[in-house]
Amino acid sequence: MKRMPMIAGNWKMFKTGPEAVKTATQLAAACKDITDVQIMIAPAFVSLPLVAAAVKGTPVCLGAQNLHFEKQGAFTGEISADMLTAAGAEYVIIGHSERRQYFFETDDMVCKKIRAAVTAGLKPVMCIGETETQRDREKTFLTLDKQVSDGLQGFGPEEIKDLVLAYEPVWAIGTGKSADTGQVEEVHQYLRSLLEKRFSSDLAQSIRIVYGGSVKPENINELMRITDVDGALVGGASLDADTFTKIIRFDTTL
Ligand code: 13P
Repeated sequence: MKRMPMIAGNWKMFKTGPEAVKTATQLAAACKDITDVQIMIAPAFVSLPLVAAAVKGTPVCLGAQNLHFEKQGAFTGEISADMLTAAGAEYVIIGHSERRQYFFETDDMVCKKIRAAVTAGLKPVMCIGETETQRDREKTFLTLDKQVSDGLQGFGPEEIKDLVLAYEPVWAIGTGKSADTGQVEEVHQYLRSLLEKRFSSDLAQSIRIVYGGSVKPENINELMRITDVDGALVGGASLDADTFTKIIRFDTTL
């Protein structure tokens, strides 16, 4: 099955509203002819409506970086799935390792957040990945298995057909040290077989599994040549429109 590649930019806690609009506008102009790659950017919450207006009618779509799992309520400082869709988000990143590490998100919370997203019609980009210690102790597959199983507990294949799975080894995020192609290939293959075992072979074949962790113009081509890599979740290198455009315009023949 042919899966449309997705190249997504996670802007984390960078860029004010005007700065986000400027980069998004440049990006949309540079990518206006692209129809075969799904382009997504995830700016800060406050920039979502501004960026939504800036990219309207272009190939660039919007994602948020997090959400709360309750529909609404007295949860000061939090944001709901309905608020995100109303602000123009189509996707939402859930369970990023920075959220797990600094904000103590558990697999159970990830599961509730995915449920909230799916209920509201938001497409989840579910992040999983092992730490350096887990890899050194040969616990990579065990860690990923638990994150997938617990994070997707109670879901049927139909409910998660639009979910994007993002494999982001924690040790490769923001370090400049991308996983090598052998490591990425091995994990992506494992994840697809895990989805087949837990859900269905149809779901496993249709779901996009993207890689994240020090993706840049210099390594995107070799990453995209890997059969089970359906795109990338890019941090630092997505902040500049020119650099990010080079990643979006990857060429697997090079
Ligand atoms: P870097 O591309 O900066 O390593 O970040 C990856 C990431 O965390 C994307 O979500």
